[in-house]
Amino acid sequence: MRILGIETSCDETGVALYDSERGMLADALFSQIDLHAEYGGVVPELASRDHVRRLVPLIRQVLEQAGCTREQVDAVAYTAGPGLVGALMVGAAVARGLAYAWGVPAVAVHHMEGHLLAPLLEQPAPSAPFVALLVSGGHTQLVQVAAIGQYEILGESLDDAAGEAFDKTAKMLGLSYPGGPALARAAESGDPDRFHFPRPMVDRPGLDFSFSGLKTFTLTTRDQCAAKAGGLTAQDVADIAWAFQDAVADTLVLKCRRALRQTGSDQLVVAGGVSANQVLRERLAAMAQKEGAQVFYPALRYCTDNGAMIAFAGYHRLRLAQAGAGNGKNGGESDGKLPELQLPVRARWPLTELYA
Ligand code: KG4
Ligand code: ZN
Repeated sequence: MRILGIETSCDETGVALYDSERGMLADALFSQIDLHAEYGGVVPELASRDHVRRLVPLIRQVLEQAGCTREQVDAVAYTAGPGLVGALMVGAAVARGLAYAWGVPAVAVHHMEGHLLAPLLEQPAPSAPFVALLVSGGHTQLVQVAAIGQYEILGESLDDAAGEAFDKTAKMLGLSYPGGPALARAAESGDPDRFHFPRPMVDRPGLDFSFSGLKTFTLTTRDQCAAKAGGLTAQDVADIAWAFQDAVADTLVLKCRRALRQTGSDQLVVAGGVSANQVLRERLAAMAQKEGAQVFYPALRYCTDNGAMIAFAGYHRLRLAQAGAGNGKNGGESDGKLPELQLPVRARWPLTELYA
C-alpha cells in the first residue's frame, strides 16, 4: 500500500510517499524559516499562504522522485491537527481534493501521533508497549503506548512546551528564530559553572512539567547581567543559554526515568523537535544505561515536522480503521462516513481522543 503524506500544521511544508512493503520512497520539505525570521516567530497568515504556494510542486516532486504515478497512490494522509488552523486547512483542502479526484481514502492524522510513530521508521525500532516523551514546539508529554493507537497521557506541561520555552528564551537573549537550535549552538561556548537554574517541579511527585518559571528566571538573570556590564555580552548569552538548556534537559531526563520506573518499561521513545537536542540525547543515554533501558529517536531530519511521519502514521491509521479498531473519532473520514467535501481540522486535539 502506498500513502502520500502531507504536513502543513505550522511553518514546514512536508510531503512524502510511504510504501508499506518498501518503506519511505521519497520525501521533500520546504521550511519557512526565512519567511518568519524577520518577525522572530511564526506569522500564521504568512504560513498558510506559503503552504498554498509550496504544496502542489512538492507533491509533484515527491511522486517524480519515487517514480510513481498518481494511479499508484492508495491513500492521501494529511495533518488534521493540532496546529495553526489556516495552515491545517491548506493541507486538508489539497489532500482531500486529491483523494476525492483520485478516488482513494483521505486519512486525517494527528500531528503528535506522527511524531510519536516516527522512531518506528528506524532500525532497531521500539516495539509496544513503550513510554514516549514528545517534546515539540507545542507539546511536552509523556505517553504510555500500549499499542499503536492506544495512548495514555502520563504527564504533560502545565504551561509552556519545552520547545516553546527554548524559542522564548532564545528570543529574550537576542538569538535568531527558530530559537531551539540557536540556543543550543550558543550554549556550546557557555560556562557550566557560572549559573544554576532551578529544575521545575522535580521535587513534586507525578510526571507533569512546567517551563514558564524558567523563562522568568532567565529574564531576571539576563537583566542582572546587563545591568552589571552595561549590556549583555556574548559570553553572558552563552552562559545563560547553557544554564537554561542544562535545566530543561535535566528536568526531562528525571521525568523520563520516573516514567520508566513507574510503568516498568525498558523502552523510551523520544520525538518532536526538541529530541534533536544533543545535550538532551547525551543525558538520556546516560540515564538509560543506568536504568537498563533503551532510547529510540527518529532520524534527525524526522525530529522536526515532516511529511514522512504523516505518511507513516496515515498508513497505521488506515490499517487500524480497516481492522475496525477505530472508534470513529480519528478526525475522521478514513471510515468513509464524513461528507467528502468537508475539511475537518482541529487546532486543539487531545491525543487520547484518537481512541476511547
Ligand atoms: O516538532 P516541531 O518541528 O514542531 C512542533 O510540532 O511544534 O518542533 C519545533 C520545536 C521548536 O520549538 C524548536 O525550537 C525546537 O523544536 N527545536 C529544538 C532543537 N531543534 C528544534 N530545541 C532544542 N534543541 C534543538 N536542537
Ligand atoms: Zn511537530
